[in-house]
Amino acid sequence: MIEEAAKLIAHSRFLIAFTGAGISAESGIPTFRDRGGLWENYRVEEVATPEAFKRNPRLVWEFYKMRMKRMKEAKPNKAHLALAELEKMGLLKAVITQNIDNLHREAGNKNVVELHGNIYRVKCTSCAYRENLLDSGRLEEFLEEEGLPKCPECGSLLRPDVVWFGEPLPQEALQKAFKLAERADVCLVIGTSGQVFPAAYVPYIVKENGGYVIEINIKESGITPIADIFLKGPAGEVMETLLAKVKRCLKDKGC
Ligand code: APR
Ligand code: ZN
Repeated sequence: MIEEAAKLIAHSRFLIAFTGAGISAESGIPTFRDRGGLWENYRVEEVATPEAFKRNPRLVWEFYKMRMKRMKEAKPNKAHLALAELEKMGLLKAVITQNIDNLHREAGNKNVVELHGNIYRVKCTSCAYRENLLDSGRLEEFLEEEGLPKCPECGSLLRPDVVWFGEPLPQEALQKAFKLAERADVCLVIGTSGQVFPAAYVPYIVKENGGYVIEINIKESGITPIADIFLKGPAGEVMETLLAKVKRCLKDKGC
């Protein structure tokens, strides 16, 4: 199957990737719904909804600062790096991710569509103020700050610029993702349970437009029934092997 997948990728006209928390598991970031996952230890209703933030912003900020600290320690793994290389080779046109960990960008991917926001961005709950703490260089200071983070413009509460349950996705990103899915002839689906919509529509749109879906996961997911090829295994290992086979395929004209 991996040979077939490599052939499809090597001959692809418009390859995209759709990723979930599983691609970052080998970077030490827990997923959400696996054993030991975040939603086993935290209640969504207490830390990841707009109502939770209204009720107890301190608890929500404790949760996101904990995740910020963990994610800033994490490094892109072989799967992230393989996607960056496929982009450099001109094969991969875009990465559509549900992840907020910024690891695709850190791996070097330029065309990244973030459907659920980014852990290093904050925004004001009242005015249009937004800040990327990596670009502003304030991440460490922000993490050390005791009290609730306030907007430097209007003094209101700042919140993480991520999508919480019950909130609409950023329309611009969602429309861009769906457009990419319509154009794709091959879509790599890596490390997602495929249970959270509208993000999980991406591979279905690829299929509806005649494209192929290649799934990589340690176990079957909600996407597996529509996958043309299912490669079972850890994303880092499988992507390393797949990339090597794509390169060999490109070299060997007959592939
Ligand atoms: N390699 C490949 N796949 C893996 C690995 C790995 N090393 N480890 C875990 N997986 C797979 C699991 O089998 C599972 O199918 O990754 C998937 C993780 O699923 P979820 O925890 O549900 O994460 P995700 O699909 O990204 O969740 C979607 O839900 O909680 C919200 O906003 C959050 O973006 C998130 C969305
Ligand atoms: Zn403000």
